[in-house]
Amino acid sequence: MKLDLVIRNIGQLLTMAAGGPVKGKDMNQLSVETDMAIGVKDGNVVWIGKDAEVNDLQYDRFINANGKLVTPGLVDPHTHLVFGGSREHEMALKQQGVPYLDILKQGGGILSTVRATRQATEEELFEKGMFHLQRMMSYGITTVEAKSGYGLNEETELKQLRVARRLNEHHPVDVVSTFLGAHAIPTEYKEDPDAFLEAMLAMLPDIKKQGLAEFVDIFCETGVFSVDQSRAFLQKAKEYGFDVKIHADEIDPLGGTELAVELGAISGDHLVGASHQGIHALASSHTIAVLLPGTSFYLGKESYAKARKMIEAGVAVALSTDFNPGSSPTENLQFIMSLAALKLKMTPEEIWHAVTVNAAYAINRGNVAGQIRIGRPADIVVWDAPNYQYVPYHYGVNHVNTVIKAGNIVYERGEGYVSSPVS
Ligand code: NIG
Ligand code: FE
Repeated sequence: MKLDLVIRNIGQLLTMAAGGPVKGKDMNQLSVETDMAIGVKDGNVVWIGKDAEVNDLQYDRFINANGKLVTPGLVDPHTHLVFGGSREHEMALKQQGVPYLDILKQGGGILSTVRATRQATEEELFEKGMFHLQRMMSYGITTVEAKSGYGLNEETELKQLRVARRLNEHHPVDVVSTFLGAHAIPTEYKEDPDAFLEAMLAMLPDIKKQGLAEFVDIFCETGVFSVDQSRAFLQKAKEYGFDVKIHADEIDPLGGTELAVELGAISGDHLVGASHQGIHALASSHTIAVLLPGTSFYLGKESYAKARKMIEAGVAVALSTDFNPGSSPTENLQFIMSLAALKLKMTPEEIWHAVTVNAAYAINRGNVAGQIRIGRPADIVVWDAPNYQYVPYHYGVNHVNTVIKAGNIVYERGEGYVSSPVS
């Protein structure tokens, strides 16, 4: 059999192939193979072995990893990828100490992005989404989740979801879609949030029929949606056949973590204020904790999610950028890995689990993404890093050398984006 591609001379290979989701202390057990090579055919990994054995293989093309690190493509399981405009004007307010939720209360924050997203054409949102997606890919991300939530009306929420679908169809990175219609209370429903939630629920049968989203999410937070509202909303979403996620205990500790477990959510996200009981409930559930330290960092918070407590209790932890224009404007998941090391005190071994295998499980892609395994899509990153500890250590820069998605080289340092972004 002639292979399409061989990656040779791999100094350290992380396959993450022990299965998943990986919980608690097991996250610290990383299998590292040295002097390895990988063979790819028809988009899939078909051979993994020692570099010395490559001489017996036939192949069309090879990449020399130069003795460096090779891992699965990164998975970002929580982003707000599709939106109009930007919010650099809020930086000064933040510097004056105006809290995030106060900016929202004054009609700014999420609501300012809602205005920009309602005004943007579908084409503009698509082009902008492409731009951000390209940048994510250049940082090693090969699968990403994307939430709606900047429409807060039927027309614009559907527009965002259609854009996410088009991005998935036209860009090499896989885009997994979540309906976050319950992201904020729009001005026109200020006096009647329950009626707003009803309006968002009424969209679900159509979203299901059109296959526009796999998950339904809600922002459970002071001044946004309460635990009771979130419970009722997500219960309905489950009845319509959706898996659910929840922005829980991000700013104020309301008990959203417990709610995520109670509902059997696929993930509970943020969890900065998760209680002791919430953490222990998570540990004995199938819900994955998606932690987003970029948000604590960017909002200038003292407190970060208690990752150590979670891991010690036995929780499966994933990490994400939370890429969005307000609380975490960055596509750089490598920087989040550094924050996880510095602020969440996660070990490099735990961090690699959190951005690959566990992140894939958090968006129901555990069987196709986050691991390098024979018979699975070849989503692989060749790093310009001598070892896996180096990536979280040397912070703020891009360590990617080559990104391979489904067997195709889609990004090479110096060469830029190899495949045409729009096909
Ligand atoms: O995950 N918390 C709500 N949603 C986003 C922020 C969105 C925004 O500020 O535009 C988050 O932090
Ligand atoms: Fe978010």
